[in-house]
Amino acid sequence: DAETIAVIPGDGIGHEVVPAALRVLEAVDGVDFEFVHVEAGDAVAERTGEPLPEETLAAVTSADATLFGATGETSADVILPLRDAVDSFVNVRPARTYPGVDAVQPETDLVILRENTEGVYAGIENRLSADVSTLTRLVTRSASRRLGEFACDYVADADADGFTVAHKNNVMRVTDGLFVDTIEEVAADRGVEVDDQYMDAMATHLAMNPAEYDVIVCPNLAGDVLSDLAAGLVGGLGLLPSANVGAERGIFEPVHGCAPDIAGEGVANPAATVLSTAMLLDFLDYDGAAAAVRTAVESTLADGPRTPDLGGSATTDELATAIVDRLPDS
Ligand code: NAI
Ligand code: MG
Repeated sequence: DAETIAVIPGDGIGHEVVPAALRVLEAVDGVDFEFVHVEAGDAVAERTGEPLPEETLAAVTSADATLFGATGETSADVILPLRDAVDSFVNVRPARTYPGVDAVQPETDLVILRENTEGVYAGIENRLSADVSTLTRLVTRSASRRLGEFACDYVADADADGFTVAHKNNVMRVTDGLFVDTIEEVAADRGVEVDDQYMDAMATHLAMNPAEYDVIVCPNLAGDVLSDLAAGLVGGLGLLPSANVGAERGIFEPVHGCAPDIAGEGVANPAATVLSTAMLLDFLDYDGAAAAVRTAVESTLADGPRTPDLGGSATTDELATAIVDRLPDS
């Protein structure tokens, strides 16, 4: 039976990069998905009052995987419940450079494994009075353990030497204490090498010496910030894919948002979304198709055409066509 893929373009450039990525997914040899198109985000909220319609949630929870573009101001009301709905405990964010693309740090080739369910994004905020507000940072042993297990599996699959945990346990002694101790216990049990760094110091090292990093494991907010930093090192947000991985399902999305500053112009870089479909193909065990998509993206980035974010003048559609043309013939 064909796997079912829920497709959510969202808002802004989501409506440009998701159709471009679907063109690639439909052209690649060896897969034949059934697509279920559903809505989420600012536009549907404006029309119906609901950023995440019931039908969309149902489609995502019953699909084998979801391709998500980006939403706007309603993002937290959309992507956080969707990540919950597929029990996605880790967000995988690879950042690497490509031949032909100008990068601040051409030696970058790393992956950020971001805790995806708790930390300061658990949504436990309170307004105590007109002048005082609080936020509760949630860290559990079970989520930290699951992330640690995933990191050990990832290191084994990728043939990496080990991983680095980013944290701030000198200040957040109790929460990051539990986070780091639990992950280090898992790594010790599994015989995986692990080192750790304060996340602020890591930001500096990452900006100056990204080649020293391979696999980084971090709390939710740190992963959000450090992955945008990594995007800056490799040529911008137009290049960074991500996977929200759960035990059985996943949601695949570019790291970037809906880019209102360029939305509607047809010039958004679809590479991040196309590379997200490669992660989707990996997740569903279509290794050959995933490799074919990556190779086609790499050779397109190397030879052009390129979109304006990478110094070119190609449109989103022209880039998608160039990628499709470089897929191996069936
Ligand atoms: P953004 O990622 O949308 O844009 C940041 C900058 O990068 C902009 O200058 C934009 O033009 C550029 N950019 C992003 N993707 C690009 C692409 N594919 N090709 C070329 N240039 C690209 O982040 P921003 O501006 O902070 O947020 C805009 C909206 O997106 C906000 O409403 C925010 O809440 C939402 N957002 C949604 C996310 C999601 O759906 N997961 C993630 C991040 C932001
Ligand atoms: Mg972000």
